[in-house]
Amino acid sequence: MAKTKSAFFCRSCGFESPKWIGKCPGCSNWNTLAEEIKPSNANHAWKKSTRKIVEAKKISEIPDLQQQKLVLPDSELNLVLGGGLVSGAVVLLGGEPGIGKSTLLLQLALRTPGNILYVSGEESESQIKLRAERLGASNSNCAILTETLLENILNLVDEITPDILIIDSIQTIYSDALDATPGSVSQIRDCTGKLLQYAKENNVPVFLVGHITKDGAIAGPKLLEHMVDTVLQFEGDRHHAYRILRTLKNRFGSTQELGIYEMQGTGLIPVKNPSEIWLAQRDEPLSGIAISGVLEGMRPLLLEVQALVSSAVYGMPQRSATGFDLRRLNMLLAVLEKRCGFRLGQSDVFINLAGGLRLEDPALDLALMAAIMSSYHAEPLPLRCVFSGEVGLSGEVRAVQRIEQRISEAEKLGFTDIVLSKYNKIPDAKDRKIKIHTFGRVDEVFSWLFG
Ligand code: TYD
Ligand code: MG
Repeated sequence: MAKTKSAFFCRSCGFESPKWIGKCPGCSNWNTLAEEIKPSNANHAWKKSTRKIVEAKKISEIPDLQQQKLVLPDSELNLVLGGGLVSGAVVLLGGEPGIGKSTLLLQLALRTPGNILYVSGEESESQIKLRAERLGASNSNCAILTETLLENILNLVDEITPDILIIDSIQTIYSDALDATPGSVSQIRDCTGKLLQYAKENNVPVFLVGHITKDGAIAGPKLLEHMVDTVLQFEGDRHHAYRILRTLKNRFGSTQELGIYEMQGTGLIPVKNPSEIWLAQRDEPLSGIAISGVLEGMRPLLLEVQALVSSAVYGMPQRSATGFDLRRLNMLLAVLEKRCGFRLGQSDVFINLAGGLRLEDPALDLALMAAIMSSYHAEPLPLRCVFSGEVGLSGEVRAVQRIEQRISEAEKLGFTDIVLSKYNKIPDAKDRKIKIHTFGRVDEVFSWLFG
């Protein structure tokens, strides 16, 4: 009998080493190497394929991808996929447990006409049926299979030839060609490889659900993300109903798009006007609140930024930011101190972005500083005013991209004033109702606001 060999594989990058080491030489992460049985060459799937005569095609003869995109009944999913689902595409959907990955894909399976096979390695048939009843819609052609052995799944797939195959999740599927346990690096790599081969040979789109590790990366080798065509990430705060679907990689479209859903009792409902839900409807002005015109991907959003400045009573002043980078907050506080002369060194500063969102658009800076100053002076900002600008280290208000989109979003939602950088080239518009105020430095903004 042949001796089974084992090796150590890095869970993060797939690096292989004959012995255990604490720090992976491939990706410099600590404690990521785990022992696995190495597949022997005899039963390795890639060696089995037989040779055949192949031909190269002229680029002009290759049909246009655009025509082959299947438009799904889910507007947000179409958006993040770049217009629709390409036949033969393999899409990996990652996200935290309980965020709604299974719900999103089951909902898709139930609402898309055609033969859809939903394979679950995580839930029983009756659990899936229960969820399907909650989701309401039903496609009688949607088939459910609870199975984790890849060979059995592929046998069934050959028989029923589905139009879309959904695998929930790739970490639970295993192949008996390998001795490694389900969820191990080599199982994930090989099962994905075989599913990829199936998708490309039969032109069937495949959705894979991927678990994520505690630091947010998709569990398994990084190679998984390289292998698939599209990587989508489902995120959001579990205590809020809103979920964001982001494209991390897309071979068939831009990665700038963003889908927004609301989790309701009947599944995930696409959100058409995200700004409207994130703005609290308020008639009386409060101090410490500013509205920011930000862009998330290609979508303009108006978002409430809240700040609280209070004198530090427990010695060390605290700085805390929810949904915003703490280092950037510290930088903006330093700008306030050095360039505008406000001493916040003895104050606690708390920042919160409404709705449980996490944003990185630098255009948030100006709204954030205005909210901090408003809380500091205990004076509310003008009620229907939007701020959109980046703040530099010398206290200058810098231009931000796609200004026209931000202005129109503010105008659409009934705002009367918008504060921008004077370095932004603002296109002329005759019937624009919103008043535009431009400034070159933040201290000029503050003197305009607080006199
Ligand atoms: P689930 O889709 O199983 O998440 P994942 O597959 O990413 O682990 O979980 C979705 C969560 O949403 C679950 O806690 C129950 C809740 N939910 C709703 O609020 N409304 C619904 O219609 C459904 C089906 C689930
Ligand atoms: Mg699930």
